[in-house]
Amino acid sequence: MHSQHLLIVIIVGSGTLLYLGKLNSDQNDRNAFINSVQKSLKCRNLRERLLTMSTMKTVDIALFTQGVSELMDCPWRLNLTHRELQRTELWACCNASDKLMVTRQNTNLHQSLIYEAERSNKKLVDQSLWEMLPKSLRWNKKGLLGRCAVVGSGGILNNSSCGEEIDSADYVIRFGLAPINQTVDRYGIDVGIKTDLVSANPSQILNGYRDLQKNPGPLTERLSVYGHAQLYHALHNGRPQNEVVFLHPDYLFDLARFWHNHEEKIKRLSTGLILTSAAMEICEEVHLYGFWPFALDLSQNPVSHHYYDNVGSTAFHSMPEEFLLLLKLHTKGTLQLHLGHC
Ligand SMILES: *[C@@H]1O[C@H](CO)[C@@H](O)[C@H](O)[C@H]1NC(C)=O
Ligand SMILES: *[C@@H]1O[C@H](CO)[C@@H](O)[C@H](O)[C@H]1NC(C)=O
Ligand SMILES: *[C@@H]1O[C@H](CO)[C@@H](O)[C@H](O)[C@H]1NC(C)=O
Ligand SMILES: *[C@@H]1O[C@H](CO)[C@@H](O)[C@H](O)[C@H]1NC(C)=O
Ligand SMILES: *[C@@H]1O[C@H](CO)[C@@H](O)[C@H](O)[C@H]1NC(C)=O
Repeated sequence: MHSQHLLIVIIVGSGTLLYLGKLNSDQNDRNAFINSVQKSLKCRNLRERLLTMSTMKTVDIALFTQGVSELMDCPWRLNLTHRELQRTELWACCNASDKLMVTRQNTNLHQSLIYEAERSNKKLVDQSLWEMLPKSLRWNKKGLLGRCAVVGSGGILNNSSCGEEIDSADYVIRFGLAPINQTVDRYGIDVGIKTDLVSANPSQILNGYRDLQKNPGPLTERLSVYGHAQLYHALHNGRPQNEVVFLHPDYLFDLARFWHNHEEKIKRLSTGLILTSAAMEICEEVHLYGFWPFALDLSQNPVSHHYYDNVGSTAFHSMPEEFLLLLKLHTKGTLQLHLGHC
């Protein structure tokens, strides 16, 4: 017998599944269909469970990782409503498109900027700092940027082959002067090379390049791999060839308050969360790579701290809590996290 039935399955809820089509009563097709329904149900349950999690404090990391691994097998769907809502909220609180960086447009000569972390500390915008500032943000005249890749430095990028996908983005953000030298190992294959904005920690500049004012050569050389990317670091002067931009302390202050009000577990924002937030406001689409703050990967194998070394500590920030936040944004369809092979 080879009869055919018209089958309509509607599962209403967060993971709405609409199946409408002809189904052969053929056993294989039926099994495939049942499997796909089971998979959608499983994905829906996973999403619901994840969205109710409020902290990572009491979480068994091995079980959590298992859940994340299953979630990554579920199809990701953009939710336009969530994405635009998030963009609007971030714009209303923080306005990255106007205030992410200190520019001559949003700052006056001889104005005092108040440091974000120590509100009693001020930095005067003197003539030499003023001259370093960009006139305005590069992108804010053109409306939203298209597809943005925010590339964390997590060891999970090692052997990911994500380089090509990252390089195909319209705007690529990297962190902590992460190496992207294609001739070394397989960085090019895994992390790509295109860079539009790269952050440096103040300590990287202060400790690594002590006599920067007199001898900027070594830093300039290190930065040359990024082409004409903008380099940003906190408010300290330095003159490499790349345009140096500074995150605006007012933006950092507003953003910290914003996330703290939403997720009070998040105390001091990492650069990763700061620039991901900015990207959610100024980019059409946000894709995250290399964000994974755990010692085991999705298959429970050890993974290094960074894709380029195994040094570092996350003690200062609330990385697992931030990761949970990003995973929820992924689950809601606001942005897309990439954790496996590309
Ligand atoms: C987006 O999310 C909202 C709220 O969770 C839901 O009602 C809506 O159906 C979703 N839209 C899409 C296209 O999935
Ligand atoms: C953000 O900044 C732009 C440019 O200054 C301004 O036009 C806009 O009103 C600001 N938006 C909010 C919500 O403050
Ligand atoms: C690297 O990835 C490939 C698949 O792309 C896999 O076959 C190989 O085992 C991986 N190597 C390591 C060391 O994880
Ligand atoms: C890339 O790495 C190679 C090998 O370490 C080195 O010789 C070369 O100068 C580096 N290139 C850049 C642009 O840093
Ligand atoms: C990245 O993976 C390769 C094997 O694919 C390994 O040889 C290398 O040590 C890893 N790098 C780090 C920083 O863990």
